[in-house]
Amino acid sequence: MSTAFDAGNGKITVPDILGRKISTPSSPNQSSDRGGSDRRKIVCLTAYDYPTARLLDEAGVDVVLVGDSVGMVVLGYENTLPLTVEEMLHHTRAVRRGVRRALLVADMPYGSFHGDKDEAVRNAVRFVKEAGAEAVKVEGGERRMELIAQMVEAEIPVMGHIGLTPQSLHAFGGFRVQGKTMEAAQQLLRDARAVEAAGAFSIVLESIPRELAARITSELRIPTIGIGAGPECDGQILVLHDMIGLSLGHTPKFARRYANVGEAISHAVAAYAEDVREGRFPADEESYHLSSEVRERLLAIRRS
Ligand code: KIV
Repeated sequence: MSTAFDAGNGKITVPDILGRKISTPSSPNQSSDRGGSDRRKIVCLTAYDYPTARLLDEAGVDVVLVGDSVGMVVLGYENTLPLTVEEMLHHTRAVRRGVRRALLVADMPYGSFHGDKDEAVRNAVRFVKEAGAEAVKVEGGERRMELIAQMVEAEIPVMGHIGLTPQSLHAFGGFRVQGKTMEAAQQLLRDARAVEAAGAFSIVLESIPRELAARITSELRIPTIGIGAGPECDGQILVLHDMIGLSLGHTPKFARRYANVGEAISHAVAAYAEDVREGRFPADEESYHLSSEVRERLLAIRRS
């Protein structure tokens, strides 16, 4: 498994992402310890296969996440819960082959880190060893503290994820914006601090009020990556299929659409079908030809 790791050649590493923390009065700039001075927002997107991974990487995306959203947007599951470690490994390997520069993060699927912690670390190790991930993402706050610390101890960089964590779908009673009450906001603040204290190098804030995300961002020393969490986060992430118009289900209001690839595919398929039915495809220039000599000899042969 080639991991494309070549720090110094523009390859984005975990320390680079830490060095991208946008300084605030309560989280002073860390560039002196981390050796970086790049304060541009961190650009993250999901990818699930080789061609899109390559396109994202070549477009200069900083972090490519093989999100468990693959279960819904690519595999057609109703939610992310059925996804297995084997399925995630398969997609992570494909993305690995397309990513050279970006940091590659793999999502730990539901059930892979919810029981025995040693088994969870073993699962995380598989993403690094067998699929070439450079970090894993784990959903959950305070209650994941010990687990995140154990993974970090095993040399696996961890990206946290709090707010609307889709693996908590049943506990939340649906996909709902989180942290809207005083109690819920305070719990998310505690969750964010716990994830940082456990040693995570960044944290995704999903579907929480902008003001709360701004407060968490200003408190933490690690970068926050927002999705439906307003513009103050240190970086942003979207599900690729939402932003290119290729998701077939509901898309949330924060998922700005930059292209309509779904419509482009439908138009292309309809045009192809019509051309085949009307005999317009393939044309002569899309066909292979015999040399005139072979053609004539072939024509001269009688059917026996
Ligand atoms: O699975 C996923 O795609 C995610 C991102 C939206 C953060 O968790």
